[in-house]
Amino acid sequence: KKNIIIDCDPGHDDVMAILLALANQDKFNILGVTTVAGNQTLERVTLNLRKLYTYLGISTPAASGAAKPIIRELTTGKEVHGETGLDGWDFPEPTFQLDSTNAMTFMYEKIMNLEDKVILVPTGPLTNIGLLFSAFPEIKEKVEAISLMGGSIYSGNYTPNAEFNIYVDPEAAKIVFNSGIPIIMSGLEVTHKAAITDEEIEKLRAMDGRISKMCGELLHFYTRYHRREGYSSYPLHDVCSIMYLLHPEIFEYKDLQVYIDTSDGPSRGKTFADLREWVKYERPNARVLLNIDRERFIDILFEGFKKLDEI
Ligand code: BDR
Ligand code: CA
Repeated sequence: KKNIIIDCDPGHDDVMAILLALANQDKFNILGVTTVAGNQTLERVTLNLRKLYTYLGISTPAASGAAKPIIRELTTGKEVHGETGLDGWDFPEPTFQLDSTNAMTFMYEKIMNLEDKVILVPTGPLTNIGLLFSAFPEIKEKVEAISLMGGSIYSGNYTPNAEFNIYVDPEAAKIVFNSGIPIIMSGLEVTHKAAITDEEIEKLRAMDGRISKMCGELLHFYTRYHRREGYSSYPLHDVCSIMYLLHPEIFEYKDLQVYIDTSDGPSRGKTFADLREWVKYERPNARVLLNIDRERFIDILFEGFKKLDEI
């Protein structure tokens, strides 16, 4: 089993990523889930996680982390995810209780208490992990890989050059990309191909299972922003970072050297990749996912939802 910690800002696609991990606990030992400010304020995304857990009736440990980026002011993604950060489904009042420690201490303890190495799966801004590596550099020895959603090689989404998660906290991203730990980067090149269609969302909405239906309704809300922006199918960004750990064979990738732009100019938060074929790096820092078998992706995701429906 792979030991994982999901660090997220739920967020519609974050929730789908968490659900995919929960549906595959025969392959994952989920040490915990931590939250970070991004799609909405820390308070709201943490409340969303608690609501989700209460709805699912689960007790996987969870903790909340950084309320703002290391240096920058917080930018949220409320245009996409709504006022609550997870609009589209009426969750019951949350009763799930968080761990009393901060995400950084929580991660430190979970990782250090385990003999085996851990894989981190960040699907929001990289603030918590940047802080963790700065405060406890020795922890890096125990991190096998980081499968993250963030960045893009060609074009951004939040700005022409930058993808949202990296744009929000480029300083944290720089710490992570320079950590020496192998990174699997699910950037926009692959996540825009990991898109769900209206027909597929309607299929979920029409289902009886309480998880599939909830996902259908959440995704129905998620289409609003994208439709306004001219999309006709909807990228399930964060799901890619869990999916790669389960089914690497459905992806195509290139191992590249990736740099983070922390400047204040128009490239703030850009993930620059060195695409010069003749430059051979001894050890590229990131496996950049570029393509995906979309049909398989959707089938595996829906199977996961169905599995959770039956619990
Ligand atoms: C990323 O930003 C958020 O809106 C999503 O949850 C995803 O992590 C995509 O740019
Ligand atoms: Ca996210």
